Amino acid sequence: MTKITAAITAVGKYIPEYTLTNKELETMVDTNDEWITTRTGIKERRILKEEGAGTSYMAIKAGENLLEKSGIHPEDIDMVIVATATPDMPVASTAAYTASKLGASNAFSFDLQAACSSFLYGMSVASGYIESGRYKKVLLIGADKMSSIIDYTDRATCIIFGDGAGAVLFEPNEEQLGFQDEYLRSDGIGREFLKIEAGGSILPTTEETIANKKHFVHQEGKTVFKFAVSNMADVAEKMLVRNKLTKEDIQWLVPHQANKRIIEATAKRVGLQEDKVMMNIHKYGNTTSATLPLLLADYEKELKKGDNLIFAAFGGGFTWGAIYLKWAYNS
Ligand code: UT7
Repeated sequence: MTKITAAITAVGKYIPEYTLTNKELETMVDTNDEWITTRTGIKERRILKEEGAGTSYMAIKAGENLLEKSGIHPEDIDMVIVATATPDMPVASTAAYTASKLGASNAFSFDLQAACSSFLYGMSVASGYIESGRYKKVLLIGADKMSSIIDYTDRATCIIFGDGAGAVLFEPNEEQLGFQDEYLRSDGIGREFLKIEAGGSILPTTEETIANKKHFVHQEGKTVFKFAVSNMADVAEKMLVRNKLTKEDIQWLVPHQANKRIIEATAKRVGLQEDKVMMNIHKYGNTTSATLPLLLADYEKELKKGDNLIFAAFGGGFTWGAIYLKWAYNS
């Protein structure tokens, strides 16, 4: 019997209309376009401004875009995973609402939270369900409204993050295309360096937590940078070595978009030139769970059946890892 692999068969995306440029940030905090560009590679990011709209608003739009492009009927979807660090609400599942709004009435759904590695971990989960033979269509959406947890008076974080959503569909494949290998890691030592301190079970919301701005993302950038550079490069290299791939075998590196310098360090370690590295950080910033699917959507036309892709991500927790996947279609 042929082994069933899990392939990505469709992609979709949504980015909000409002563009927050480095120039506008210069009017909000003590920063400048030159610093942001050279230190991060970011020129602008999108911000969701629609009143009362949360992460599901973007997740639904990315899902709709995928369904429209692929012609898939929503009732045929078995499972919807929303990878996100900014759910609509702390308790009610964002994925359940998203699935219902998409018309995926035969699906079950859940959220997956691993900070900036949420989508990468989601790829592992979605692929595992497909490979098991239990489900045939798994919709994985990475979506984050980072602007809802950013302090726009803190120049250390407000210049980095943006809002957006991307979606992929995983289906069984009998040509051995799709998901090939993974190396996923986590280390709780990291939670001191990148966190939202309050609003959870350790420090519930009080007037004091609000006054002290403890509901916003706090990051010790330098420390996170060091861990991100070494760990993302390590896992990407491991994917090549373990699968006996040379740099010539790789068509695309698909790296989490946190900082252009981290991406370049990862590419250098695996010996890949710039033209093989997917990049859109300049226009979206760090959209957390949405960076990887947004890259796939932006580069879809350039991807060819059989291309070898190495995904790599690093995020809060710490969480990180790499995935090796063979692209399954020409668009
Ligand atoms: O996706 C999840 C994982 N997150 C990451 O991977 C992010 C990792 N970290 C980073 O990308 C970088 O550390 C940052 C982009 C956040 C910061 O870059 P950096 O090169 O590490 O800068 P720094 O924090 O060491 O600051 C260097 C200088 C400081 O000034 P002094 O002390 O040298 O005088 C900062 O005060 O730059 C100053 N600075 C700024 N200046 C202008 C910090 N933020 C800004 C700013 N504009 N926005």
